[in-house]
Amino acid sequence: MSEPLRVGIAGLGTVGVGVVKILTQNADIITARAGRPIEIVAVSARSKGTDRGVDLSSYDWVDNTADLAAHENVDVVVELIGGSEGVAADLVNAAINNSRHVVTANKALVAHHGYDLALQAESKGVSLAYEAAVAGGIPIIKAMREGFAANNIHSVYGILNGTCNYILTMMRETGRDFDDVLQEAQDLGYAESDPTFDIEGIDAAHKLCILTSIAFGVKPDFDAMKIQGISHVNATDIAYATEFGYRIKLLGIARRVNGKIMQILEPCLVPINSPMGIIDDVYNAVYAEGDFVETPLLTGKGAGEGPTASSVVSDIIDIARGFKVPTFGIPAMELSDASWIDLGETRARYYLRLSVIDQPGVVADISAILKEQKISIEGMVQRARAPGQAVPIVLTLHDSRHENVVNAVEAIEKLSVCNEKPCLMRIEEI
Ligand SMILES: NC(=O)c1ccc[n+]([C@@H]2O[C@H](COP(=O)([O-])OP(=O)(O)OC[C@H]3O[C@@H](n4cnc5c(N)ncnc54)[C@H](OP(=O)(O)O)[C@@H]3O)[C@@H](O)[C@H]2O)c1
Repeated sequence: MSEPLRVGIAGLGTVGVGVVKILTQNADIITARAGRPIEIVAVSARSKGTDRGVDLSSYDWVDNTADLAAHENVDVVVELIGGSEGVAADLVNAAINNSRHVVTANKALVAHHGYDLALQAESKGVSLAYEAAVAGGIPIIKAMREGFAANNIHSVYGILNGTCNYILTMMRETGRDFDDVLQEAQDLGYAESDPTFDIEGIDAAHKLCILTSIAFGVKPDFDAMKIQGISHVNATDIAYATEFGYRIKLLGIARRVNGKIMQILEPCLVPINSPMGIIDDVYNAVYAEGDFVETPLLTGKGAGEGPTASSVVSDIIDIARGFKVPTFGIPAMELSDASWIDLGETRARYYLRLSVIDQPGVVADISAILKEQKISIEGMVQRARAPGQAVPIVLTLHDSRHENVVNAVEAIEKLSVCNEKPCLMRIEEI
């Protein structure tokens, strides 16, 4: 039997404890598959005294987490703390500099600093592995980087945040509004007490940024992404989307159009029975379009102790096997700066919900604005009539230029009868 691979784990929260459990409970099968034992030798977190439900007594406890980077018995530093800056970033940087392999579940770190870290890791000849950073238990990094390596990828669509997908699903199933369902998700532990990163789309955007890089061979560029969360989506939108044959999903879209790349993360309408429309609850999914593989769909749990730790350990096993691929699929120094598409020039069909005071001439005013922007209406519903009071008007728009649609929405919002910010969403026919 070969020498064991020696692991140091930084962060013993949900994922860190999961990794300890898998490495101990499944040691035999992991050893057989890795071709050598994988041993935890050191662990670190903020507080030593916390009962974490696992026996850590045989591991070296490292008080100063940063010291794991230079621990003499550690071959692989497993970073499970989180955050794009601070302790996690310092530890990963130092570990790579000390020629230690790094495994992380930290999407924020990879999205913001992945390019520099990959350059550094590849020059040191060590791995920077991050399967768990995108879509938890779904092996999407392996699929994109290895399984689809023979393909020109045209587009990638992702439902990448389980909390948002759960909230949108519950809103549809119960007819309740966003705030109400968010509170329930927090009570059930599906949403953080500060849910901003989830509901404003930041968490999913970190993941999409990584997928864009692998799909198109470009440097991850988080700042180049248009991001919108789900907090403005209400029960009316969900009900009308269903009536029109659609589901509303917080969708990541990375697409190459005429050599330029579009990278957006926002709620979109997708057909009910489409690959993305059928993904409900806390599930994540990634759907890709490649020239030979065609249209694979991968789905599964995108978070949680077991699924996430499973992906972390798969990266550790790869390192034990001596298996290494470039961090983003091609050597980091060959990743290019993406040429980003001008979003204003993109075209799509749209869903538009307005809340307006019901009075004569309103619909004519809205139609005139749309006509001026060369936008044609596909359908319009104004069901409730309440003269003098606010009513929703829901429109679907034919394929239109994005900038024209934005201009029209801004003009409509300025009408004195418009009493709420309009809700505009793309309709994606995937
Ligand atoms: N949870 C998931 O389902 C999931 C899914 C995919 C990816 N991830 C990613 O996995 C990583 C870990 O997530 P998690 O959910 O396991 O987080 P968590 O439960 O909050 O655990 C974080 C751990 O980091 C430790 N820590 C925090 N600040 C520290 C510091 N300054 N120095 C040393 N240790 C520190 C904490 O120590 P104490 O316990 O002593 O406070 C804790 O053990 C994050 O990057 C996250 O984005 C999580």
